[in-house]
Amino acid sequence: MRAIGIDVGGSGVKAALVDVAAGEFVGDRVRVDTPQPATPDAVVSAARELIAGLPSDLPVGVGFPAPVIGGVTTTAANVDAGWVGAPAAELFTRGLGRPVVVVNDADAAGVGEARHGAARDVPGVVLLLTLGTGIGSALINDGVLVPNTELGHLQVRGHDAEHLAAAAVRDDEGLSWPEWAARLSEVIGAMDALLWPDLVLLGGGVSRKSDKFIPLLDVRPPVRPAALRNRAGIIGAACLAAGAVA
Ligand code: BGC
Repeated sequence: MRAIGIDVGGSGVKAALVDVAAGEFVGDRVRVDTPQPATPDAVVSAARELIAGLPSDLPVGVGFPAPVIGGVTTTAANVDAGWVGAPAAELFTRGLGRPVVVVNDADAAGVGEARHGAARDVPGVVLLLTLGTGIGSALINDGVLVPNTELGHLQVRGHDAEHLAAAAVRDDEGLSWPEWAARLSEVIGAMDALLWPDLVLLGGGVSRKSDKFIPLLDVRPPVRPAALRNRAGIIGAACLAAGAVA
């Protein structure tokens, strides 16, 4: 079965047609800059234009950078405040003209990694962190997701974890790999003290360069790059959409 996955990020909205059984893109990923301000209307319109060239009869899954409860987005750390309490699933369903499933972006990536990536068939507790504009988290136990964890907002030394160690912070503050790895170690250490995961996976675009920072981490649990890298969220969102109509 095929479905369309969309990943709404702080800087880009990305989409692809996905073969959900294989966990692979069919064709190329498409991307537009996230509209600024990223209001509900603007993001839904961007998504509509983005997938205009893809088949119109397939289910769509959207990974969104906020906790999503029953299709409603509850916060807006890296998007416009208009998303707080917005009926996101309804807005995308209306805008894209078909049923759309909306879930948290990191949870979508967690589902992608659990079904087709580095968390597949891994027993016990896996913590996936997506490192991008913010830090997203997905907690998976024996392959089952605990949705809407928001560990990027865990307080570490009086700061949101994502304000200390998101990938964007490395760029913005011009941190060296060792400097950033030290911050990431602190953040993972704080999460480890509360959750004691068996495995930590790191995703997001920067995971392409994981050999530059994973070996520098000083933390207890084993840490590996997410196998699907930044494709995980799109693949996971498409899997969830396909599951919802199956
Ligand atoms: C949001 C999360 C999201 C993460 C990554 C955080 O600021 O609160 O919901 O998963 O960014 O996009």
